[in-house]
Amino acid sequence: MKVLAISGSLRRDSLNTRLLRAAALLAPSGVEVELLDPSALKELPLYDADDDGAIPPIAARRLRGAIRLADALLIATPEYNGTIPGGLKNAIDWASRPWGTNSFRRKPSATIGTSPGAIGTAIAQQHLRSLLSFCNSPQMNAIEAYIQFKPGLITETGEVTDATTEEFLRNYVTEFYSFIERVYMAIPRNA
Ligand code: FNR
Repeated sequence: MKVLAISGSLRRDSLNTRLLRAAALLAPSGVEVELLDPSALKELPLYDADDDGAIPPIAARRLRGAIRLADALLIATPEYNGTIPGGLKNAIDWASRPWGTNSFRRKPSATIGTSPGAIGTAIAQQHLRSLLSFCNSPQMNAIEAYIQFKPGLITETGEVTDATTEEFLRNYVTEFYSFIERVYMAIPRNA
C-alpha cells in the first residue's frame, strides 16, 4: 500500500511537512508513506486552461504521475487567511485537468494539518475536503486531525515528543489504512 503524502507548505521548516514525516514514521506495517518533495508544488507554473492542449510542463507531468501511481493521498494543509495556500490549490487544479484526466478520481484521500493557532487548520481542511469531494476522491470522514503545534511538538525528522499526540497520530494513520482497504474492496483499482 503506497500513500503519497503532499504538504501544502513550500517552507523549508514547514510544520505541516514535519507532521507528514511523523505520519510516515507511525504508519502500520505494509503501508509506505512517501513524501512528495515540497519543491514539486513550487515548480508548477500557474495553471491556465488555455494551455490544456499544449505539452504540460515537466512539474505537472511529475505531479500527475506521482498521484496516479499512489494508492492513496494524505494531504497536509497549512491555513493561510482561513483557507488553503494558493500553491496547493494550483497543484490540485493542475492534477485535476485537462477535463477527463482527473488524477484524483476514485483515489482515496485524507486531510490533516497543523498550525500554531488554536483551531489547527480546521477551516482550511474543510475547504480542502470540499475540493477533494469535487474532484471525486473518496475521503476518510473520521478521524479528523486538527493539531495545534506547540513549540517542539514534532522534530524536523518527524519524531513526536508528546505521547498523547503520538498515539493520536498512530491511530489516525491506522484508521486511514483501514479506510483505504475498504474503498478498494468496494471500488477495484483502475475501475
Ligand atoms: C498564516 N497563518 C495562519 N494560521 C492560522 O491558524 N490561520 C490562518 O488563517 C493563518 N493565516 C496565515 C496566512 C499567511 C499568509 C501565513 C504566512 C501564515 C500562520 C500559519 O499557520 C503558520 O505560518 C504555519 O506555520 C504555516 O504552516 P507551515 O508552513 O509551517 O506548514
